[in-house]
Amino acid sequence: MKTIIEPFKIKSVEPIRFTTKDERIKLIQQAGYNPFMLHADDVLIDLLTDSGTSAMSSKQWAGIMDGDESYAGSKSFYRFEDAVKKITGLKYIIPTHQGRAAEKILFSTVGGPGKYFPNNTHFDTTRANIEFTGSEAVDLLNETGKHPEIRADFKGDMDVEKLEGFIKKTGAENIPICFLTVTNNSGGGQPVSMKNIKEVKSVCKKYGIPLFLDACRFAENAYFIKKREKGYADKSILEIAREMFSYADGATMSAKKDALVNIGGFLAVNDASLAQQCRNLLIVTEGFPTYGGLAGRDLEAVAQGLEEILDEHYLQYRIRSIEYMGDKLVAAGVPIIEPPGGHAIYIDAKRFLPEIPPEQFPGQSIVCALYIEGGIRSVEIGSVMFGKYDKDGKLIPPPMELVRLAIPRRVYTQSHIDYVIEVIIEVFKNRHSLKGYKIIYEAPMLRHFTAQFAELN
Ligand code: F0G
Repeated sequence: MKTIIEPFKIKSVEPIRFTTKDERIKLIQQAGYNPFMLHADDVLIDLLTDSGTSAMSSKQWAGIMDGDESYAGSKSFYRFEDAVKKITGLKYIIPTHQGRAAEKILFSTVGGPGKYFPNNTHFDTTRANIEFTGSEAVDLLNETGKHPEIRADFKGDMDVEKLEGFIKKTGAENIPICFLTVTNNSGGGQPVSMKNIKEVKSVCKKYGIPLFLDACRFAENAYFIKKREKGYADKSILEIAREMFSYADGATMSAKKDALVNIGGFLAVNDASLAQQCRNLLIVTEGFPTYGGLAGRDLEAVAQGLEEILDEHYLQYRIRSIEYMGDKLVAAGVPIIEPPGGHAIYIDAKRFLPEIPPEQFPGQSIVCALYIEGGIRSVEIGSVMFGKYDKDGKLIPPPMELVRLAIPRRVYTQSHIDYVIEVIIEVFKNRHSLKGYKIIYEAPMLRHFTAQFAELN
């Protein structure tokens, strides 16, 4: 088998700025040891997120020029609506400026105190938008998904038995919607099987609970189904995606991931009355229902991106490039979530730095070291992002301490990735010199974005 190559030529380039290690030691300190506070210009390889960081294609840029900026009834909206309907089959398509805007509108409409929203694992903004309404966000990931070292095909699956138990205990009337996040970002970008989507749907149906997909990375999930699940090898990505959505009563999507754009998102629902309520809120908070917080040109770029993402050559390269990085790290003994997921490598900070306890944020320590060593920006997904406090102010850590290196779509080449691998291995070799951190400032919600840290001795 020959090398799987980047399925594109590069037409426009953006230089990256080199810094020295001494400069980076100062820069990360000035940033309060929080990479969200760094100037992007001081970052060499930016793996903070795969969200909104895609390189758009020449056809998407052409769409930007072609966008219809009419306030109401723009032709770009209808192209966007067609593209979303073609994939999801859902009836009412509501554009939003990004994923969390769709979440905010949905949960403001159906949430509130005393309500519960199960998911395989809620992403941080989803959880925050649910909790903001006074509802509870509940993670029901299958057990295998919680063990980074176990290799399994569909570690994003929901525990269906737990779901049913939870519904019986909580009362279906208190669960307005059940979610499945495809792929499961907070659990390592791991895919959800079609079998699991079907089973979850069947439990939801039994209790009259609508099922929604958090569909940010639906195409990557569909590719995993094609490769790993029996009966899907000969189906196209579009066919698989359509089947996935056929079990859903609605979806939220951040188009900043698998729609290959820098901004955009949508809420899609089948229920006419829910659509109406959401649109009413949309007009107050986002904009008129045919643009919803986006420019016509953005809608054009989303529509084009949704066509391009279904290309199997692209998905093969995408998933293989993440796997390539994972293989090299595993061969060097670096502990990661195995097998690698669809959009990122997740370092298992608990096994990387066993001597640093969760209350000293081992993931944050690795994040800082990767920046200092190689100018690489990554993000902690562990006690900084998801930690809670008990009534005595003691940290309640989440099940995993991870560092995510998310790969922007169509942005970096194989030699960039080789460099990243070298830096990670270098930091791993010197891991015994790494220190823990303490938080010296934190916001009441989503603290990881703005928290400030100090190094412990
Ligand atoms: N759901 C999932 C699974 C996500 O990964 C994200 C964003 C959102 C919802 C919210 O979308 O950013 O457009 O408002 N994830 C980004 C990330 C930020 O880095 O993983 P948004």
